[in-house]
Amino acid sequence: MEKTKLTLPQFQQMKEQNKKFRMVTAYDYTFASIVDRSPIEMILVGDSLAMTMLGYDSTVPVTMDDMIHHTKPVVRGAKNTFIVADMPFGSYNTGVNDAVRNANRIMQEGGADAIKLEGGANVADVVKALVSGGVPVMGHIGLTPQTATQLGGFKVQGKDAEAAKKLVEDALCLQEAGAFAIVLECVPSPVAQMITEKLSIPTVGIGAGPYCDAQVLVIHDLLGLFDRFTPKFVKKYAELNKPILEALNQYADEVADGSFPAPEQSFGMKEEELKRLY
Ligand code: KIV
Repeated sequence: MEKTKLTLPQFQQMKEQNKKFRMVTAYDYTFASIVDRSPIEMILVGDSLAMTMLGYDSTVPVTMDDMIHHTKPVVRGAKNTFIVADMPFGSYNTGVNDAVRNANRIMQEGGADAIKLEGGANVADVVKALVSGGVPVMGHIGLTPQTATQLGGFKVQGKDAEAAKKLVEDALCLQEAGAFAIVLECVPSPVAQMITEKLSIPTVGIGAGPYCDAQVLVIHDLLGLFDRFTPKFVKKYAELNKPILEALNQYADEVADGSFPAPEQSFGMKEEELKRLY
């Protein structure tokens, strides 16, 4: 069956019908076009590209230009998948006007269908302004990597009753502000379940257990391409590092021993032309 891009009301309907949707990250044309051929309904051009594509240690150094640069090829590669792009650190913490200007750039220049930003009640005014300006917003609470230092590192959030209550309040606040969905990252499953049940909009879990309305994973983790570290919540559906390295080793050996390129990868020439040449 031909895949078609789902709309926001369709994602909402999936929650109401208890049907889960799926999201993975993508940061370039090739990966986006492969995701587009799968049943996965949503792509996140995540600022996790800081680590997977750019080799930084955190998401903080990623710029607006980086995000737009990576969103454009994803949009070209995945015409039938809903595309959300992250607002990078520094693009929405300097005031509502800057946030609106930067979100407009991601939509207009990048071509994303929606944006995602991190934070709860503290970003409600930004979310409200974006939504009323026509920008669909996905929230992101729990472990928020852009502010992981303030959270004491990359740790599970909402482990005690007070912290969990704050997450529930943040989620309700984002919903009230107009977010169409909320990522819950690294929160205990029962907390994610409570938030999912209390919200009328979908939750998208990563390290948040099985009760969310949708799941998201970083594609490099899922495919076993990124091995600097592997969070507990990642399931590797492949170990692609290995065949890639094997292929590169074989190529290196064959160039060194002269077996590549073979006649089938080479171009010949008519005998008489060769004679004339000599
Ligand atoms: O940037 C990213 O990949 C994300 C996911 C981890 C949700 O925000």
